[in-house]
Amino acid sequence: MKTENHNKAGKLTQLIHGGIDGDERTGAVNVPIYQTSTYRQIELGKNTGYEYSRTGNPTREALEKLAAELEKGRFGLAFASGMAAITAVLTLFQTGDKILISNNVYGGTFRVLDKVFNHFGINYEMIDTTDRQVIETAVQAANVKALYIETPANPLMTVTDIQMNAEIAHKYGKLLIVDNTFLTPYLQRPIEHGADIVIHSATKYLGGHSDLIAGLVVVNDEKLAERLYFIQNSTGGVLQPFDSFLLIRGIKTLGVRMERHQENAIVIAEWLANHSGVKNVYYPGLKGDPGYEVQKKQADGPGAMISFELTDDKNVARFFQGLELVGLAESLGGVESIICHPSSMTHAAIPADIRERVGITDNLIRLSVGIEDVKDIISDLDSAINYAG
Ligand SMILES: Cc1ncc(COP(=O)(O)O)c(C=O)c1O
Repeated sequence: MKTENHNKAGKLTQLIHGGIDGDERTGAVNVPIYQTSTYRQIELGKNTGYEYSRTGNPTREALEKLAAELEKGRFGLAFASGMAAITAVLTLFQTGDKILISNNVYGGTFRVLDKVFNHFGINYEMIDTTDRQVIETAVQAANVKALYIETPANPLMTVTDIQMNAEIAHKYGKLLIVDNTFLTPYLQRPIEHGADIVIHSATKYLGGHSDLIAGLVVVNDEKLAERLYFIQNSTGGVLQPFDSFLLIRGIKTLGVRMERHQENAIVIAEWLANHSGVKNVYYPGLKGDPGYEVQKKQADGPGAMISFELTDDKNVARFFQGLELVGLAESLGGVESIICHPSSMTHAAIPADIRERVGITDNLIRLSVGIEDVKDIISDLDSAINYAG
């Protein structure tokens, strides 16, 4: 597809033909895997545009271009993991700076700020990024340099208004960083709502098959992009050529997968909400969920991540034992349904008192709804809830 047509194409077409479409030299329909660390130079001081694969690799570049297009940004960067992407973004800041983070960001994001960046004097403060007054008060401090949000946020599926956060951040000259892992650009494009930096754990829905670890960053501003490319090359957490290829391959089917993930999730969330063994269901696709309206305004769908709590008479450990089809595992966004216990797994890095304050109870269960037959997922969950007491 010609570059000028990329932005006019539909979402499904862009996923398949966006970025660099195939290989011009041979006509191969897929971007080749340039599995090389270095490139022979033409003559002293003259190269082909590539010198060394930490600095640039054609397979990674095809992915980076695709990511930028899908997120409606101008520049994309691919990293060895979501955490490597987050770390690269956080190294934009300096000693004395403070980042405001949403109450329930991913545990690893909290951990890297709390246990790594604090060694360098970069601080964080957890705030309720759904509350305009709270943000407006916190963001005005001179040392605050950025707001960092996830929406829906992990694991209570709290929806944050991206546009509201962008407006407040920009009013005081701060950056808005959005982790868009849960919805992907197929369902939500934060740059369209004013975000400055979009981050992904591409390990999840973008890869889609639980077979790779990868991270992405997309920005619009050229100066920010230059700094991030400098950081990427200097610190070296780049995505490898084979993994870049796998990710491009995964992204081609993102649309059909997301549609099916979401179709299943809506049925399962409604079923859970009506189950006598379940007391709370957190899913922004349910009418009555506090995030329902904002989610509808800023996204093309609620996604397929659901959290819920069993009633107090149920034993959570027995519930997990009772599952057969749905796997107890970290991660999310693969074709298979995966379930986890946030307080002892994904969010264990967050101290118990903070977990309690933000509502991550020991009773909370997080489900990544796969694309299996929905009746099979429901039947497995039902048996496990019954087994739990
Ligand atoms: C929302 C979110 N952001 C970032 C990450 C970190 O990504 P990775 O595991 O690819 O390093 C995760 C991982 O679970 C996540 O769920």
